[in-house]
Amino acid sequence: MNWHDRYVQQAGWTRDLRNYLFNQAGLKEAQRVLEVGCGTGAILSDLTFPAAPHGLDLDAGALVDARRHAPGAILVRGDALALPYADFIFDITYCHFLLLWVRDPLQAAREMARVTRPQGFVLALAEPDHTARVDKPDSLAQLGKWQTESLRAQGADVSLGARLAQTFDRAGIEIVETGAIRQGHEAAIGGQEQEWAVITADLRGRVAEGEIHKMKLLDIEARARGERVLHVPTYFALGRV
Ligand SMILES: C[S@@+](CC[C@H](N)C(=O)[O-])C[C@H]1O[C@@H](n2cnc3c(N)ncnc32)[C@H](O)[C@@H]1O
Repeated sequence: MNWHDRYVQQAGWTRDLRNYLFNQAGLKEAQRVLEVGCGTGAILSDLTFPAAPHGLDLDAGALVDARRHAPGAILVRGDALALPYADFIFDITYCHFLLLWVRDPLQAAREMARVTRPQGFVLALAEPDHTARVDKPDSLAQLGKWQTESLRAQGADVSLGARLAQTFDRAGIEIVETGAIRQGHEAAIGGQEQEWAVITADLRGRVAEGEIHKMKLLDIEARARGERVLHVPTYFALGRV
């Protein structure tokens, strides 16, 4: 599984929304911008402003990749729950598919607010609610359940997206705008091989290979008939400190 390819695919799903929200947050005028949980740099490498954004991640291996993909970024290994930065130093602090993975999302949101200057912006660009996932036709519903269980077993807070605005509110971040990402045609239909690489990695050791293969055939057939729906409601929140 090439995680950078996966992150680039996910970054594609949120590109239009990201451009809109970064514009609302005044990215072009921002001097200091931080991505918390930057992974391999899929989002950092797509930023045009500022010239040297900051990125932080817990995973040293991901940061090695990020150094390659976003050579202009200033990268630090650290924990979202205790950010190694002084108070009030960033104009914009954002994350993308992060909060569902942290042990205490409220503490992470509080930390993002702490390092952001007064009147600066905190932005959670994409947090899913897997408990509301829709799979059609119904014969593929079990696939969604397996995958959600696997994410839960990997430590994800699978319904965090549904509580994102509430988490900002409890962290003292004033919501400017929140909503759900509109998944485009390409998110639902495109990248099937990539999607199946993720599903196979998620389900390996949990579900018999024959069962996974059966689901894959049902998925391919449903797509060929134009009947496949795979929808995971995914939320964003733009807030002001
Ligand atoms: C799904 S990846 C998303 C990476 C990147 N934001 C993107 O969208 O391409 C989640 C990232 O969060 C990082 N992460 C998880 N818990 C963290 C924590 N407590 N502090 C910092 N990073 C964390 C992981 O190491 C991983 O790189």
